Amino acid sequence: MTDNTERTTHFGFEDIPEADKAGRVRGVFTSVASRYDLMNDAMSLGIHRLWKDAMMDWLAPRRGQRLLDVAGGTGDISFRFLRRAGSGHATVLDLTAGMLEAGRHRAEAEAMSGMLDWVVGDAMALPFPDNSFDVYTISFGIRNVTRPEVALAEAFRVLRPGGRLMVLEFSQVPNPALAWAYDRYSFNLIPAMGQALAGDRDSYQYLVESIRRFPDQETFLGMIEGVGFEQARYRNLSMGIACLHSAWKI
Ligand SMILES: C[S@@+](CC[C@H](N)C(=O)[O-])C[C@H]1O[C@@H](n2cnc3c(N)ncnc32)[C@H](O)[C@@H]1O
Repeated sequence: MTDNTERTTHFGFEDIPEADKAGRVRGVFTSVASRYDLMNDAMSLGIHRLWKDAMMDWLAPRRGQRLLDVAGGTGDISFRFLRRAGSGHATVLDLTAGMLEAGRHRAEAEAMSGMLDWVVGDAMALPFPDNSFDVYTISFGIRNVTRPEVALAEAFRVLRPGGRLMVLEFSQVPNPALAWAYDRYSFNLIPAMGQALAGDRDSYQYLVESIRRFPDQETFLGMIEGVGFEQARYRNLSMGIACLHSAWKI
């Protein structure tokens, strides 16, 4: 007999009981929340902004659309989406209250609070009815979810027919020379930067390890199709360091 306490999953390079993962992930993001935006710029040399803009280019937000931004953290994707759409509404859902709190401050500073809701919740059990959103995004979030296929099934459920899924995530670099250089940068520099800028080496060590454990582009495409999405496609960003997956609920 199998139950949740017996199943294991990965937390970075560690194997842990599945039931412990969400708490450990919440611990990481609670610890980094106040410095999350600063660290994103420092670690990626600002490139995460280009990737998020590429996501918006492909998504092409339209006026009045209802977005659900899961693992939305401090709201980077939702802010971009609403600015491009011109009008609409975004619900930012995240496991970590501290990340949403940082996002709420940003929304107040940018006078956008009226267009946003902030909801603490789990991607694997969304507190929304079926067919309620036009667009579902998850950016640098799904690799932290205990069972990504459950989160994808939830995305399918809450999207209306004709709705769009878009996932931005770190991925696998096919070019061996670039993969070697990227590994050196990731494992040597990122945890050290986490220590120097945020006083937190362990959270950034987890970040690097979790990227290596996430499925490659084709495998993840198959997972998206496996829950019922159609017209699933992907586009590599920066030679596969990150990747966008797009799909539709028809
Ligand atoms: C790297 S941050 C990404 C934030 C934002 N989407 C961005 O692109 O900047 C990952 C976020 O995923 C959230 N998260 C992790 N597991 C989650 C889950 N099961 N359900 C909802 N949010 C989750 C974390 O709390 C964290 O805020």
